[in-house]
Amino acid sequence: MSVQQPVAVDIAPDGTMSGASRVYEKRVGDLDGVYRSQEAYAAEVARRGAEDLAYIVHEQKYDSSPGSLIVGTSKLMPGAFGSEYAMTRGHLHAIADRAELYHCLSGHGVMLLDTVDGQSVALEMTAGKAVNVPGHWVHRTVNVGDTPFVTLFSYSADAGQDYSLIERAGGMRTLIIRESQSWRQVANPDHRGYKTTSRPSE
Ligand SMILES: [Fe+2]
Repeated sequence: MSVQQPVAVDIAPDGTMSGASRVYEKRVGDLDGVYRSQEAYAAEVARRGAEDLAYIVHEQKYDSSPGSLIVGTSKLMPGAFGSEYAMTRGHLHAIADRAELYHCLSGHGVMLLDTVDGQSVALEMTAGKAVNVPGHWVHRTVNVGDTPFVTLFSYSADAGQDYSLIERAGGMRTLIIRESQSWRQVANPDHRGYKTTSRPSE
């Protein structure tokens, strides 16, 4: 059996990471259907331009075996689309029981979490705060500050992501909205329940 060599990486407070094996960016124009108000989304795309950066992810992964970890960073730019704060698309892991650690490096955000059977939690994050996300929780990050919200994350390399679950459900169960310069979690009237297609743990 060959043994993977340990890898040291440099991670800056702005999420820049040395030795990333994958870097991907989402532009404002890539997020059609993520926000509840199509009008507010279209107005923001027109104002910022479709090519404006929404978020950037750095990842370091050496293989896809269940015992291996992916380590990475997510830098989510600030902003709002109507009353909703800027957020990532969100997902449930394709192997749903896989957990994930998120640690805030800078900025001010919220980790928004749902179970498919009815629980919903929002946890505020600032530099130094971490959230240990158990398996079976749909998760996304939301930037409720006015600077980039940067997190370090780590999860099982075989976990995968189901990105369409939230879309099929009409969005997550709750919305994180801007109200009097602060954030508030409110029910999403469009949410119609989750229907999972995730594989069971193998
Ligand atoms: Fe995840």
